[in-house]
Amino acid sequence: MAERFENGYGGLIAVVTGGGTGMGRELVRQLTAQGCDVATCDVIPENLAATVDLCTTDGNTGQIFTHIADVSVEAEVLAFRDAVAKWRPHVHVLFNNAGIGGGGSFVLDERAGWDKTFNVCFGGVYNNTRAFLPLLLAAPFGQVVNTSSVNGFWATLGPNVSHTAYSAAKFAVKGFTEALITDFRLNAPTLRASVVMPGHIGTDIMINSQKLQGADPETMTQDQLDQVRERYERQGTDMSAVSDADLRALMKMGAEGFRDIAPTSAADASKFILDSVSRGDWRILVGDDAVVLDDEVRKAPKDAYLPEFMDRLHARGAMNAMGR
Ligand SMILES: NC(=O)c1ccc[n+]([C@@H]2O[C@H](COP(=O)([O-])OP(=O)(O)OC[C@H]3O[C@@H](n4cnc5c(N)ncnc54)[C@H](O)[C@@H]3O)[C@@H](O)[C@H]2O)c1
Repeated sequence: MAERFENGYGGLIAVVTGGGTGMGRELVRQLTAQGCDVATCDVIPENLAATVDLCTTDGNTGQIFTHIADVSVEAEVLAFRDAVAKWRPHVHVLFNNAGIGGGGSFVLDERAGWDKTFNVCFGGVYNNTRAFLPLLLAAPFGQVVNTSSVNGFWATLGPNVSHTAYSAAKFAVKGFTEALITDFRLNAPTLRASVVMPGHIGTDIMINSQKLQGADPETMTQDQLDQVRERYERQGTDMSAVSDADLRALMKMGAEGFRDIAPTSAADASKFILDSVSRGDWRILVGDDAVVLDDEVRKAPKDAYLPEFMDRLHARGAMNAMGR
């Protein structure tokens, strides 16, 4: 059997879900720059096309195959897999990266948004792992790299924000991936699994999630806007002087700010993920904030949801973008 990653990613074949922006796009760019052939899917065609343009402009030697597929819809994932199988005989690395936010409150939010977040973030990982298993087994060695989050071990964004669907899905991704480690050792010894837990990374995830959840600030309905207003008010923010136009602008700024103030860039995060996987790491915390959070949760798990817990994180310079 070939040594795992003996030549880095050069000459390998990878699949990246959600290659249109953010960490997925950077994974595609960095993999193809190393001479790895990459098949990638997304639901936003223009972003996927922009990823291909960047790889071409960079002169990357790895080939790219693109496909429009919603990872939460099994039939679309199977069609993606079948198209990949026609393109290449096997797959060495599957990066289950696609994800969205939404469905924060189990109590208040529409079920559709909650289910969509769970079905993309966990269902996408499940569907693609199941669909690509035969192609991974057909390669001399195979690796499944599943992106969870710090919300895979800490189910909150701080004491004033509900974050239920995303946290439930990311805990599920972490549990599934960790269970695969033993399952692969017993039943598929050429395969390995890694779980990726990023902290705050500078990507368009909020912009894309607003769009994909039908809540783009520029086009959202009056009803949706009123719900956002109510939510701010429930969190104690006085909204009386904020017009609807201001609220739309605030939401847009919030989503762009998430990307722009992050302590870790998408490019650095993806480089760290690729280096960690090729070194054989299976538990991959991305960013200093993720490392601090993991440490604090392990030190005092029962304190993790106390409002004061944020003070401990802030004192160590982590999660500063999140309020108390
Ligand atoms: N940005 C962060 O701070 C952060 C932190 C922890 C974990 N993550 C996770 O990292 C992964 C990558 O996110 P990102 O921050 O790069 O966000 P991103 O929005 O920039 O990239 C995600 C990509 O997935 C695509 N996508 C969304 N729904 C899809 C679907 N149903 N089918 C196929 N593609 C779909 C989007 O169009 C986008 O191109 C996600 O799983 C996310 O949950 C992000």
